[in-house]
Amino acid sequence: MIFTNLIKTNLRTKQFGRDIEYYQRLGSTNDEAWELIQNGEASHGMIVITDYQTQGKGRGGNSWFMSPSKGLALSLILLESIPVEKAGLIPLVAGVAMAKTLKNRGGSPTLKWPNDILFHGKKTGGILCESKISGQSVQSMVVGVGINVNETVIDFPDELKETATSLSIESGHTHQRELVAAIFTTFFEQYWEMLQESPEEIINDWTSLCGHLGKSVSFNFKGENLSGIFEKIDQNGHACIIIDGQDQMFPAIILN
Ligand code: BTN
Repeated sequence: MIFTNLIKTNLRTKQFGRDIEYYQRLGSTNDEAWELIQNGEASHGMIVITDYQTQGKGRGGNSWFMSPSKGLALSLILLESIPVEKAGLIPLVAGVAMAKTLKNRGGSPTLKWPNDILFHGKKTGGILCESKISGQSVQSMVVGVGINVNETVIDFPDELKETATSLSIESGHTHQRELVAAIFTTFFEQYWEMLQESPEEIINDWTSLCGHLGKSVSFNFKGENLSGIFEKIDQNGHACIIIDGQDQMFPAIILN
């Protein structure tokens, strides 16, 4: 069970999280968010959250595992029009907000481009941003956030036991998921505001949390497995990666 009033009490936001749609059990919070948008039932900054996500979607067509009543699966709905150049920074906004949240709860996370949150090289969170674009602006976006909060090693399926971890494993005690959700949403709103006024701060903060600057990275881009040396993030949120001696640019999100 997630208590939405506990999320609201802990929010320090002007707009984000004022409306919360809670479901005991749901296929995917991202899919439900799109359904609400299509039905005209969504508001800007609305949170869609569930206690048990059964068909969580990950990046690149992967699935996202959530342990019932232990993990956090939520989606934030963005309904303000955003120029495409700025929209490329939103996955980084979400990544920095998530890393700051885990730091606030006593962890020492690092960010792995494009969207992974790690503790000592093991994944504790991921972000899936989906958008609807019209002309040169994004009209609506769903920012889906999955965080392993209170899982112990035995909660993860065998194939994830070596590569996944949780905030609780890292910190040695359990955490109130509502508080984690509220802190994330509060940081997200702060960085959302920076998108207008000082986008360079987002890049700076992301860079200082990144765990692989100047190191070798492997990633999937449009179905292709690539590897190279991670150089930096540019002002549009694109990663500069040296592949076979040549600088190449990759967006953190494919807008469509
Ligand atoms: C990844 O690392 O591959 C991204 C994982 C994103 C998972 C979250 S959980 C909440 C939201 N709803 C989904 O179906 N996926 C995202």
